[in-house]
Amino acid sequence: MILYYLTGTLLLLWIHVLWSRRAFYKLIWKISGPLGYPIVGMAHRLMRREDILSAFKEEEQKFGQTFFSWLGPYPFLVVGDPQIAQDILTSPHCVNKSFIYSALDDGAGRGLFSLPNPKWNLHRRLLNPAFGHKVLLNLMPIFNQEVNKLIKTFEMLLTEEVDLTKVFQNFTLKIAAQTTMGDKIPSDGINNFSEGLLSCYKCVQDCMTQMCFSPWLHFKAFNYFWKNKDSYKEAKSQIRTYIRNLIKQKTMYEPELSENKRALDQNIFIHRALNLVQKGHFDWQNVEDECNVIVFGAFETTSNTLVYILMLLAMFPQYQDKVFDEVCSIYSSKDDNEVTYSDTQQMIYLDMVINETMRVMAPVPLVARQTEQEVRLSNGVIIPKGLQVAIDIFNMHRRTDIWGHEAHIFNPDNFLPSNLDGKHPYAFIPFTKGIRNCIGWRYALLSTKVTIARLILNYRFSTTFEYQNLHFVEDITIKLKETPLLRIHERNKNILKYEK
Ligand code: HEM
Repeated sequence: MILYYLTGTLLLLWIHVLWSRRAFYKLIWKISGPLGYPIVGMAHRLMRREDILSAFKEEEQKFGQTFFSWLGPYPFLVVGDPQIAQDILTSPHCVNKSFIYSALDDGAGRGLFSLPNPKWNLHRRLLNPAFGHKVLLNLMPIFNQEVNKLIKTFEMLLTEEVDLTKVFQNFTLKIAAQTTMGDKIPSDGINNFSEGLLSCYKCVQDCMTQMCFSPWLHFKAFNYFWKNKDSYKEAKSQIRTYIRNLIKQKTMYEPELSENKRALDQNIFIHRALNLVQKGHFDWQNVEDECNVIVFGAFETTSNTLVYILMLLAMFPQYQDKVFDEVCSIYSSKDDNEVTYSDTQQMIYLDMVINETMRVMAPVPLVARQTEQEVRLSNGVIIPKGLQVAIDIFNMHRRTDIWGHEAHIFNPDNFLPSNLDGKHPYAFIPFTKGIRNCIGWRYALLSTKVTIARLILNYRFSTTFEYQNLHFVEDITIKLKETPLLRIHERNKNILKYEK
């Protein structure tokens, strides 16, 4: 009798689940895709991070640029078509992030990156001014001062081939700490700002990635067997202590700054956040979380991009020479090598190189949202509420029907105005676009230009690693299976003098 009731209840439950998901099953008839196995869906193909991007590419080739599948019990749409990407990124019903971002809440805190609406909308509106044009202009001295130190660090790396990843992580973390948190780093120090802190950020970043791709780690039972759980907890706590101390320092020892007295610092991120507490828009937890998130958002994306630009220029010396010629032409008529905002406006070829790097190696290869209501796409299909939508930026940036049959090859000419003519505005979206794009995109481009221009003026980079041997690994920010080592050569300091 009990068995009879139990089977009946299970059957009813199952029918209820199927019924509540009928909108997703209907979608199968409109958008095809690999359905995978019962229960796991396509999850088994996404177990190894190094296979994810190629798995998506394969399915896009089989089923079209937008396909539908299941990740365990979650229905999801993978979008590689610029028009559908635009539909999603500009829809007010697709502003919330996918459930996989909950790993970021745990590691970095509930800030801009993962907050749901309407909280996100309020925070974004209040924090946008921290990245306004005037604020960025005020950050130029910090960018220049840190590049000066980096140039000195490179003097010590001339003898052997080096992996520059850690050097750049240290560099961008120092910049992020000063430009967003107002941290004071000794101006003479060329040494590591804090090895310990950097490894904490690295540890939390790696663990967040593991949690994004292994959501079961959120459950205590599985978490118990996770070998990184103690180091993750410790690293998170050290980062929080660092952020809390900075906030305390700003409020207790530099109170005049929180009252907007000093023009230079007035609008930097931390002061803006503190002013929002005074105005009653933020509580202390908001300040801490947002400060934490902004440093996470700023440092690894930018450091990876810098390493990849130098790596690609080392692999393609003909393009490196062109960047060098361009910066030489700007600095041959100047007395110092300080990069000003107006200098960066003249670096047209460098712009093309930066864009092309972010095209072939999209720094954030995938972003994911979820629908809060039905959304009508431009192809007429209506996607239901509760659908997870992944935008496959990496493969979209390499589509041959958009970028030509050599789309996989690094060639800055792809960004010549004549070659951009007629391309869909969402065919290239390293910072995404639309309602919830990257808040720091101008900051990132400016600091990248200052850094690369100064480095190329002083050094030449080479490598024996070949472009075709790069193997990309899906991560929150893209990684390489093997990072090429670079050799740094000092440039002849007289070249500029001869040209004057
Ligand atoms: C090359 C460098 C960078 C790249 C490629 C990049 C890329 C991105 C992308 C693709 C997103 C959207 C993520 C999503 O929709 O899930 C994003 C969001 C974000 N980025 Fe960046 N980013 C870079 C640098 C920065 C910098 C320098 C900062 C801060 C100073 C920053 C702060 C943020 C924040 C806070 C968000 C969340 C914005 C929101 O949801 O309102 N990023 N970034």
